[in-house]
Amino acid sequence: RLHTIGRGSLVKCLQKVDTFLHRNIGTNVVAVQEKNGFKSLYAVHAERQEQAERSVLISCHSRTNEKNFLKYIANYGDIQKYFFYESFGMYAVVEFANQESVASLLEGTAIPSISHESLVPFKSRLLSMRNLDSRDVLNQPSIKKGQAQTSIPINELIQRLSKEESIDQQITSLTEAYQLTEENCRLRFLVCSLLKDIAASFFPECTIMPFGSSVNGFGKLGCDLDMFLDLDGISGKNATMPKSGLFLEYQMKRANFERIVTQNILSVIGECVDQFGPGCVGVQKILNARCPLVRFTHQPSGFQCDLTANNRVAMKSTELLYLYGELDPRVRHLVFTVRCWARAHGITSSIPGAWISNFSLTIMVLFFLQRRSPPIIPTLDHLRDLAGPEDKSVIEDNDCTFVSDFSKIQLESNTETLEQLLCEFFEFYASFCFSKLSINIRKGKEQNKLPAVPLHIQNPFETTLNVSKNVNASQVDRFVALCQESSWLIQQNITAPSRGGTKGNATITPWGVSTLLLPSQVAGIKSRKRRKFEPTSERIKSLLESLKNTNNQPNQS
Ligand code: CTP
Ligand code: MG
Repeated sequence: RLHTIGRGSLVKCLQKVDTFLHRNIGTNVVAVQEKNGFKSLYAVHAERQEQAERSVLISCHSRTNEKNFLKYIANYGDIQKYFFYESFGMYAVVEFANQESVASLLEGTAIPSISHESLVPFKSRLLSMRNLDSRDVLNQPSIKKGQAQTSIPINELIQRLSKEESIDQQITSLTEAYQLTEENCRLRFLVCSLLKDIAASFFPECTIMPFGSSVNGFGKLGCDLDMFLDLDGISGKNATMPKSGLFLEYQMKRANFERIVTQNILSVIGECVDQFGPGCVGVQKILNARCPLVRFTHQPSGFQCDLTANNRVAMKSTELLYLYGELDPRVRHLVFTVRCWARAHGITSSIPGAWISNFSLTIMVLFFLQRRSPPIIPTLDHLRDLAGPEDKSVIEDNDCTFVSDFSKIQLESNTETLEQLLCEFFEFYASFCFSKLSINIRKGKEQNKLPAVPLHIQNPFETTLNVSKNVNASQVDRFVALCQESSWLIQQNITAPSRGGTKGNATITPWGVSTLLLPSQVAGIKSRKRRKFEPTSERIKSLLESLKNTNNQPNQS
């Protein structure tokens, strides 16, 4: 066919192929990385982002007739997937089979007619379904129930876990109850995609990617949405510079430091999110932080959002955590359980302060798993040694290289159960010498540290930084005291009690992991003295009794 087309058409055709290859270069990488049954985070991102671009978010009346709703939407194209959820009202996420359908839906969407207010005429993919025929709303079957996008309350979780037969089952069940659902994950990518539409007004080639617990495999329903505005695709680094002769370059504003550029960009985009972004409320620009960010609530999804830029190291640590979580299922189970336990006792908090963060806690679990004999997961140095040339990554002088091909990683055959690991975790940190030693997942070994720092957890990539710099000594003491108590508590409640009563009204006695989530008696402990492991049957009895009181609300959101 090439013989029959003219030179002009051939050039055009080649240009199209070139664009296609550029756009889809990631897909080739994805194909390589999906081999061996493992999906790289890169592959997950590519797939989810593409789904999100074909999706819209629609607020609708809870009494909307589902069939009519879908019939109306299907006028614009084939629906690939949809779901309803409840946040502040009922919402639907609709994913079309083709992106063109979104454009055609938006074309058929009206601007609201209001008389007493004025509108910012910014069109987005956040829409509202109106029904002018009120009889339709009242007389037809409505949407059954939208899924909640938050995790179950802790008392309900304790009840659920108490019904399990073994501690291993309890831990698995906890992960299932808390982890992000498929729908919640889609919603997170959709919110990033909606935000990207705002940023793209200035930077059409930008992307906004979620990082942190939204995508690292350790996210709990209701966790914040960390977003990274990636402008790297725009940089002129890829343009070919001729050795001699004429060439054109862009005129661009300059600043003395990259940090200033980041702050300026976030400031403007933060302003746009505040002034133009439908559903975005409570926008705060926190530009003087070590990592400048814009914080806001995306009301339709209920997500607390943190938008950062130029934060590629955090992207790498997200990728690393994801990899560790994929290597062995015990990693995710243990992280979920420890995070839940820590939250129940106020070791972690949603309010910033001198507490241990979830990120620090995750690194502590990873370190513990590296210290098992044989180790359950390899050290970061080992993952770096396995890396190929394609994995090389140096960000601001930090070596962020580690292997991305999962098949190169040989795991040792550790057969410890989740129950053993949980007990050992508490033992390990109950006697860890926090005053002298630092936690280091790069080396997989404790390192000496300065005594003045209460808790030192080396940042895996920015190795001069301490991930837990904010943590004060009393928080470390509380953590140790709770590890000691929990270590003892789990030993006392290791077996499921035999079920009493007749079927249906049998009393549920908390045991195993459930007992660890009950309010602690060591909340006020300041001393680092090891608790006496005396058989304080009265204390444990009162702890267990507290669950039977349904009004009892442990410290948990
Ligand atoms: N991060 C980091 N160094 C820190 C804090 C955070 O590199 N001192 C990176 C990590 O990749 C972390 C991400 O930023 O996963 C997001 O931070 P944060 O929201 O605090 O933690 P999450 O892992 O997302 O956990 P959470 O569920 O509490 O949000
Ligand atoms: Mg987060």
